[in-house]
Amino acid sequence: MSDQTSKTTHFGFDTVPEAEKAGRVQGVFNSVASKYDVMNDVMSMGIHRVWKDAMMDWLAPRPGQRLLDVAGGTGDISFRFLKRAGAGHATVLDLTEPMLIEGRQRAEADAMAESLDWVVGDAMALPFEDNTFDVYTISFGIRNVTRPQEALNEAFRVLRPGGRLMVLEFSQIPNEMMQKAYDLYSFNVIPRMGQAIANDRDSYQYLVESIRNFPDQETFLDMVKIAGFGNAKYRNLSLGIAALHSGWKL
Ligand SMILES: C[S@@+](CC[C@H](N)C(=O)[O-])C[C@H]1O[C@@H](n2cnc3c(N)ncnc32)[C@H](O)[C@@H]1O
Repeated sequence: MSDQTSKTTHFGFDTVPEAEKAGRVQGVFNSVASKYDVMNDVMSMGIHRVWKDAMMDWLAPRPGQRLLDVAGGTGDISFRFLKRAGAGHATVLDLTEPMLIEGRQRAEADAMAESLDWVVGDAMALPFEDNTFDVYTISFGIRNVTRPQEALNEAFRVLRPGGRLMVLEFSQIPNEMMQKAYDLYSFNVIPRMGQAIANDRDSYQYLVESIRNFPDQETFLDMVKIAGFGNAKYRNLSLGIAALHSGWKL
């Protein structure tokens, strides 16, 4: 077996061959696509909206900017970006076509149709030229990518000089007691909600396991710097349940 084919990675708490991860992730999002927006509101008690708004506050979109929203799913980030920018363009890229199809059916997609593109693609091999976008976002997507460092390298490549990266992702709560309390909630409640509302316990079990496996704030900050981004920083959201990482292609 060659090196590439024998490498393994996490899929939740399972260890799987790297070559299998993307297919399994697609299986999860194919399965949840039609309930994705409802489940987001229910599981986070609406807090994902607050975090996405905080992302926009830090990003401060400006008129005319071109956004690439990777793992953009049903369009939450792109819609917010275009509303704040007033005028601009957003490309929503996602590995799972049913997520994009759900997004295109939303009322916002209709209203902003001329400023939006929907593209099926992989964060690790973006189908765009170097130096194309002003802003790159990835929201609750990068922990699903097989090799997150490659996604960050690609972000750097497609951003124009002066362009901005912003990543919103679940993270680790620095306070151990609070992390334990949060684990108790997420491991006991979220898969049950997944079963009750979406009839899909396994996808939501994967969700909580993938959150627990994702690197902490400082480790991920180093990955952002390794990709080449300057002035790299992060902000915790809700005590570190999630975090925003920002960097610039200087
Ligand atoms: C939790 S959803 C996030 C959707 C949206 N960004 C949001 O914040 O609501 C994660 C998305 O990542 C996508 N995804 C997973 N791996 C990917 C990859 N390698 N390239 C592009 N998208 C990917 C999934 O298909 C899914 O739509």
